Amino acid sequence: MTYYDEVKLAADWLKERVGKVPSAAMVLGSGLGAMAEELSDSMTFEYSEIPNFPVSKVEGHAGRLVVGELAGKTVAVMQGRVHYYEGWSAEELTLPMRAFGLWGIDKVIITNAAGGINPDFKAGDLMLITDHINYMGFNPLRGDNDDRFGPRFPDMSHAYNPEMQDLIVRAARELNVPLKAGVYVAVAGPSYETPAEIRMFGKVGADAVGMSTVPEAIVANHMGLKVGGISCISNLAAGISPTKLDHAEVKATADLVKEAFASLVRKTVEL
Ligand code: 6GU
Repeated sequence: MTYYDEVKLAADWLKERVGKVPSAAMVLGSGLGAMAEELSDSMTFEYSEIPNFPVSKVEGHAGRLVVGELAGKTVAVMQGRVHYYEGWSAEELTLPMRAFGLWGIDKVIITNAAGGINPDFKAGDLMLITDHINYMGFNPLRGDNDDRFGPRFPDMSHAYNPEMQDLIVRAARELNVPLKAGVYVAVAGPSYETPAEIRMFGKVGADAVGMSTVPEAIVANHMGLKVGGISCISNLAAGISPTKLDHAEVKATADLVKEAFASLVRKTVEL
């Protein structure tokens, strides 16, 4: 079976069960999964039942897809995702995003918990992703290109779609939710960065750092999907933070901002 056929199996499986094509998909980062509970008339699929969907073994990363109504629109929400550091291949990692593309979804909002590099940021801030730096050490499009997905050399000048960025900014304004904006740099993980690495990332223009989002954003762009991105700054990065980094803090901060985050996502979908 080709990779395309594997993706198609997942997309067809979802098509058959859901009936309609959602107007947007969302990927919810660490601790931000509660937003899926806002959907009404929802159907829930465990990743383990969707053909070829990768299932995470990491705690705190629930693995289910919730499809339902949000602000009058049908949306597909991924509660949890798998990460490169778990050992997944680039193809496995991005299969859900590929499946959304083949399903016919044309807008995605990708979210994550990230460490703050910009000295103006504090834990609990929400950041519009305006662009990214791929420091993961791989590109998910490496290998033979399947033209059914997209072109060999996709343009990345507007990886985070300007209209999607506008919607997120307008949503934040209307809700009075403070919103920072900046560049997300992705690393492979799973170790957090050293202070020297964080100083380097700051100098090259990164505002926040994390271990996800970039592979998904690349394949989404490859397929011509419009991408929006939001980071929850869950902690300050190494050397900026006075304390040691740990995953419990990431989850605890995400938990504090989950309401503001959920309302921002809902409003963005509504606009
Ligand atoms: Cl400081 N670094 C990385 N790579 N990922 C994170 C983070 C830091 N904080 C939350 N996620």
